[in-house]
Amino acid sequence: MDQLGHLYHAHVTELNRRVAEITSRESIDGLIIHSGQYHRQFLDDLSYPFKVNPHFKAWLPLLDNPNCWIVANGVDKPTLIYFRPEDFWHKVSDVPEAFWTEHFTIKLLTKADRVAELLPQNTKAWAYIGEHLDVADVLGITSRNPDAVLNYLHFHRADKTHYELECLRRANQIAVKGHLAAKQAFYQGGSEFEIQQQYLSEIGQSENEVPYGNIIALNENAAILHYTALAHQSPAQRRSFLIDAGANYYGYAADITRTYAFEKTHFYDLIVAVNQLQLDIIDMMKPGVKYPDLHIETHVKLAQLLNTYGIAKGDVESLIDQGVTKAFFPHGLGHMLGLQVHDLGGFAHDERGTNIPAPEGHPFLRCTRTLAANQVLTIEPGFYIIDSLLNQLSPEAKSVIDWQQVDQLRPYGGIRIEDNVIVHQDRNENLTREQGLID
Ligand code: GLY
Ligand code: MN
Ligand code: MN
Repeated sequence: MDQLGHLYHAHVTELNRRVAEITSRESIDGLIIHSGQYHRQFLDDLSYPFKVNPHFKAWLPLLDNPNCWIVANGVDKPTLIYFRPEDFWHKVSDVPEAFWTEHFTIKLLTKADRVAELLPQNTKAWAYIGEHLDVADVLGITSRNPDAVLNYLHFHRADKTHYELECLRRANQIAVKGHLAAKQAFYQGGSEFEIQQQYLSEIGQSENEVPYGNIIALNENAAILHYTALAHQSPAQRRSFLIDAGANYYGYAADITRTYAFEKTHFYDLIVAVNQLQLDIIDMMKPGVKYPDLHIETHVKLAQLLNTYGIAKGDVESLIDQGVTKAFFPHGLGHMLGLQVHDLGGFAHDERGTNIPAPEGHPFLRCTRTLAANQVLTIEPGFYIIDSLLNQLSPEAKSVIDWQQVDQLRPYGGIRIEDNVIVHQDRNENLTREQGLID
């Protein structure tokens, strides 16, 4: 058994402990966690790609099998109801035999609608955790995704087990290989589409397997924050390349961004500066630090950067107050990472789900938590030329900007540098850089 099998034992023990605690607190018998079902496309006999319930894949790396169930009360060995139909049309999943199987009582389900025969006889005091409330209805489970249970689980989602940390490390290891291949494809003249193919081929994952739609943006497309168009045509002139691309390992996500300049122009100097800014912010991470403070500090450092490069002149406070830094860096500094790219629980202040919203004026920040050991977060500062945001600035704010430089930078789009970081008690582990993506 490799190292992961050993770590998994403690992982599943911790999940059982959490279920035992919340079920006793809420006076319920346990959780019935549904992997999910296919969603049919409108007026079609085809389905969308299957995306498993994150509460299900928290238990085991089974990502592609709908109609499965985990029945857990935290005390007894959990049951896995494993869907294995008789079907000559589709590939039927093999009966599982892996490092995790010994931790479950496995029951095979051949017909999805016969699951009631394998569930607890009286499901009245059980809670359904999943997205198909109609299915819970048919099964007579009245408690569905109770807030108290979800709040508890989402709050603890931030506290990764060592198994989860290792999965995230491996997800980064895979994604880093893809990033290095994509960088090469950029310098060799690949189109956005070709770079994407290189990336996916290098990591050995399909578009449906990667944790989110990759952003592969050349030149001015780098300023479009959620650009996923993948042009087939190479631009006549190659200036810049922003790639935000991840990988999946046993259901855990990497989420990494790099920006490259084709030539060592002024834009290249700015990449180096944003890269340094990002490393400086990562150095500030430690248990007890509030994530929003890091976001605000990023604006301070960005204001300094704008001054240093003469992009905007003014004291730090006024560049922030006038919204100048926000026009160049409109998104949040980052988010929690794990089973989901934007892992749940980013605003959860406690087990009861007390929400701390993003600070005023920063609605796109996805995490307001106080850092603690074993949390995993992204740090992803950016700098973009987005005309619609710059145009909205007040005349006063506009007057401190060097528009000639803005015109010069516009064809390069923008810069984002994103790493995935584990906060340990005594140090930070930069998963992305330690796996070899240095700059
Ligand atoms: N790739 C999504 C994000 O960086 O949040
Ligand atoms: Mn990203
Ligand atoms: Mn991210």
